[in-house]
Amino acid sequence: MAGSNPKGRTVMEVGADGVAVISIINPPVNSLSLDVLYSLRESYDQALRRNDVKAIVLTGAKGKFSGGFDIGSFGGFQEGKLPPSKPGFMSVEVLTDTVEAARKPSVAAIDGIALGGGLELAMVCHARISTSSAQLGLPELQLGLIPGSGGTQRLPRLVGLSKALEMMLMSKPVKGEEAHSLGLVDAIVSPDVLVNTARRWALDILELKRPWIPSLYKNDKIEPLGEAREILKFARTQARKQAPNLEHPIVCIDVIEEGIVSGPRAGLWKETKAFQGLLHSDTCKSLVHIFFAIRGTSKVPGITDQGLVPRRIRKVAILGGGLMGSGIAAALILSNYPVILKEVNEKFLQAANLQSRVKKGKMTTEKFEKTLSLLKGVLDYESFRDVDMVIEAVIENISLKQQIFADLEKYCPPHCILASNTSSIDLNLIGEKTKSHDRIIGAHFFSPAHVMPLLEIVRTEKTSPQVIVDLLDVGKNIKKTPVVVGNCTGFAVNRMFFPYTQAALLLVEHGADVYQIDKAITKFGMPMGPFRMCDLVGFGVVMATGMQFFENFPERTYKSMLILLMQEDKRAGETTRKGFYMYDEKLKPGPDPDIKKFIQKAREISGVNVDPKLMKLSDKDIVEMMLFPMVNEACRVYAEGIAVKATDLDIASVMGMGFPPYRGGIMFWADYLGSKYVCSRLEEWSNTYGNFFKPCTFLAQRAAKGARLSSPSEQAKSRL
Ligand SMILES: *[C@@H]1O[C@H](CO)[C@@H](O)[C@H](O)[C@H]1NC(C)=O
Ligand SMILES: *[C@@H]1O[C@H](CO)[C@@H](O)[C@H](O)[C@H]1NC(C)=O
Ligand SMILES: *[C@@H]1O[C@H](CO)[C@@H](O)[C@H](O)[C@H]1NC(C)=O
Repeated sequence: MAGSNPKGRTVMEVGADGVAVISIINPPVNSLSLDVLYSLRESYDQALRRNDVKAIVLTGAKGKFSGGFDIGSFGGFQEGKLPPSKPGFMSVEVLTDTVEAARKPSVAAIDGIALGGGLELAMVCHARISTSSAQLGLPELQLGLIPGSGGTQRLPRLVGLSKALEMMLMSKPVKGEEAHSLGLVDAIVSPDVLVNTARRWALDILELKRPWIPSLYKNDKIEPLGEAREILKFARTQARKQAPNLEHPIVCIDVIEEGIVSGPRAGLWKETKAFQGLLHSDTCKSLVHIFFAIRGTSKVPGITDQGLVPRRIRKVAILGGGLMGSGIAAALILSNYPVILKEVNEKFLQAANLQSRVKKGKMTTEKFEKTLSLLKGVLDYESFRDVDMVIEAVIENISLKQQIFADLEKYCPPHCILASNTSSIDLNLIGEKTKSHDRIIGAHFFSPAHVMPLLEIVRTEKTSPQVIVDLLDVGKNIKKTPVVVGNCTGFAVNRMFFPYTQAALLLVEHGADVYQIDKAITKFGMPMGPFRMCDLVGFGVVMATGMQFFENFPERTYKSMLILLMQEDKRAGETTRKGFYMYDEKLKPGPDPDIKKFIQKAREISGVNVDPKLMKLSDKDIVEMMLFPMVNEACRVYAEGIAVKATDLDIASVMGMGFPPYRGGIMFWADYLGSKYVCSRLEEWSNTYGNFFKPCTFLAQRAAKGARLSSPSEQAKSRL
């Protein structure tokens, strides 16, 4: 079956002690490709046949047991390009009937990772030895799947139902020590004696000095039927509440239940069938798409393919210790970058309150102290002489920023990267008083910076590729997903997001209900509806951003007075405990009937009549009227070459705006619905409600050809 160029294999070495050590070799994480699986079965057949083999140790090459199934081949299965293996081939034929049922015992020797299929493989062995740093888990649900090779049956039998549910439903791995205390592994040893301990263990099993345990039939850890049913019922309720749009967590629970009620063999078959079904689900396709899109963000055509090596950044300076500056500082010191934080005076520096941002939580006191010691507060530029990168995060004030960049040029070494967290000011303007345009770059973090996963890297025409490569590397080191974008108002994220509030205001002025809109949007999967979001960020910020877009894109801005009217009445959102919602002492939002009068007034000013159609919109219509304008804006961002890949916009939407990842990101979702459909709906609304909905040229052209929005744009092609 393995073609001329097999992807991975196993090798077997038989020692004088009669133990065959089978190692998985498929760098970088020893994933289980079809080739590895076929080779594994061959090695096993041999080991079981040979008279000089008494027992088997299963391990992975180069200190990694196995990272699980090869996600790269999922796309092939989904599109039917790869032959689907026979149902039950892996789960029943190879693992259960060959490895677990063998007359020779197997012991897994686990270092590094045993995740997904890797852990499932380890669980069919008759014992597991692990290092303390190894990570063991079944994270399949993250990809819209369930464990498909017996994991749903064996994990509960090894660690008990409650813990197994937690590990699967939350995709939460455990470290070696915890795995040991749970009963998932039988002993913890250091890496240098791992394989030898496993060999000895396997012989001990054979000599009946240790128990020979097929995990599939283990009964002592699993709860009695009545109790098990209660636990499963509770888990179902929780899963429905936390992720009402996701089917696969419920499928996982059903499959586990089958094993408990009808026996583990029935459970295995149900699992196999369910896995095949889920592999072709929209959720799985979307989540696999996001998985690869995240990896793709670090590849920037024309920049990262030039053989440039990131320079080492030994010290970073941050200007401005406000919420943003101190958040960025926290993110950096948590990843071991020494940081100096400059503020204008002592009072502000203290207010930055880093202790609270570098949360002690799981850290030891020692680690906490050490992390904090990486940070130094300063009031002048003297200590900037040896920094490799500066991130400016002061208030948005052009002349202030210009002064700062002129000073930085004076004090910092000539190679130093000069980054700004500006979200609205032209980077060329910021650097106007310097000669350093090639090392000026935007590093746009999202608040709170030590928590939010996205880093928008903004390049100008003049930013050098080396500087981009350096910042991409820093982004990766501080565990952010960096997306490289070009310069425009709002860059990629805020610009795609700007129609969100506007669409909401337009709908409400034309008769739609504030609370129904928020409900429909959260049901779709956004973290909060547009009105709740306005309340949270505060009307001041909403007005300022609105103005910025109004100035830049007047032809497609919907002008509503609603927020201004409310602001004039001392409503500014959550901080004033009154906005579109009323907030109680605990800041729990409730509807506020008073907002009707503001809406009525705003309508009068706009000269808008209530449209009976908009008063009884379906949730589907609300979602489309709210989100298609965002798709439209994303198309513009893409057509203008601000983003070079459509997948970067998918990631920007998921990580910057909270677009549900199980819908694959804004462009992927639009393509799923079809460019024709999206465009025709926008056209229809644009005829009735004006230019705000008018499809852009790019969208109209793609729709006319029935083409995908996410295939490369002309602009993007010309940039390659
Ligand atoms: C940094 O960017 C964030 C996100 O747009 C913005 O909210 C914040 O105001 C910026 N901070 C500074 C100090 O420029
Ligand atoms: C902007 O900064 C300049 C220079 O520091 C300062 O003189 C000016 O008052 C600031 N403007 C605002 C609106 O804060
Ligand atoms: C950056 O974008 C702003 C807003 O569109 C524009 O005014 C400015 O000229 C742009 N600068 C560059 C260097 O493209």
